[in-house]
Amino acid sequence: MVKFFNNKQKNNSIEELELDMENIPKHIAIIMDGNGRWAKERKLPRTMGHRAGMAAIKKVLKECNSLGVRYLTLYAFSTENWKRPKDEVNALMKLLVEFLRKEINELHEENVRISIIGDITKTPDFCQEEIAMALDKTKDNTGIVLNVAFNYGGRDEIIRSIKKVMEDYKEGKITLEEFNEKSFENYLDTKGMPDPDMIIRPSGEQRISNYLLWQCAYSEFWYSNINWPDFDGEALKKAISDYQNRDRRFGGVK
Ligand code: FPP
Repeated sequence: MVKFFNNKQKNNSIEELELDMENIPKHIAIIMDGNGRWAKERKLPRTMGHRAGMAAIKKVLKECNSLGVRYLTLYAFSTENWKRPKDEVNALMKLLVEFLRKEINELHEENVRISIIGDITKTPDFCQEEIAMALDKTKDNTGIVLNVAFNYGGRDEIIRSIKKVMEDYKEGKITLEEFNEKSFENYLDTKGMPDPDMIIRPSGEQRISNYLLWQCAYSEFWYSNINWPDFDGEALKKAISDYQNRDRRFGGVK
């Protein structure tokens, strides 16, 4: 048991947050929501909110890493985000590239493995090139996996996966008898990853927004009113502390 002390005074006593280091979620997935509202509150353009959101990633990744979280999945661009104004879409494409260019060396030194889920074949070439470089550079790293959902939609992922199954079925690589929940998971973008133990959505919204639809079957949801750019290690620890008080039964009984 490791004790973290929140330095904010509450009722004249130091609020103590205890985390059970034996029960740290292996996989945390985050919907990085509230960037637009964060910017609006400051009379800034929405893209500045996304930029501030990008800065929050480092803080949260660092905390996940030091707590022993193995996978951090971040929703950076959904299959529905193409409906946003062209300038905002372009800014989001460029931000991912900027993030990878700026951070890749440090991430690599920290043994972070970059992974991508989503259909990046539909993103601009400059994104695909930068992503390919980051994936290649960090492919042998054994530390935390930073899994970025980019042009990702849960329904799109399931349809793309079913198409791959159909191809394999046509070629005789899989039979009807072999097709089940376990074998289907090998066709998903998240192949080889554990399902998220916890899905965090800041900014007060409480919906799944086409995120990890297959994988979230038994994920614990955690919502907070903080906008993503203000999310930090303390907020993450609060989320994990709440998670540790949940009774996960996976449909069974205890
Ligand atoms: C949702 O907030 C956020 C997004 C659609 C984009 C998230 C992207 C980043 C944090 C930066 C780039 C990512 C990486 C991995 C470098 P919103 O715009 O819907 O906020 P609102 O609901 O307040 O308008």
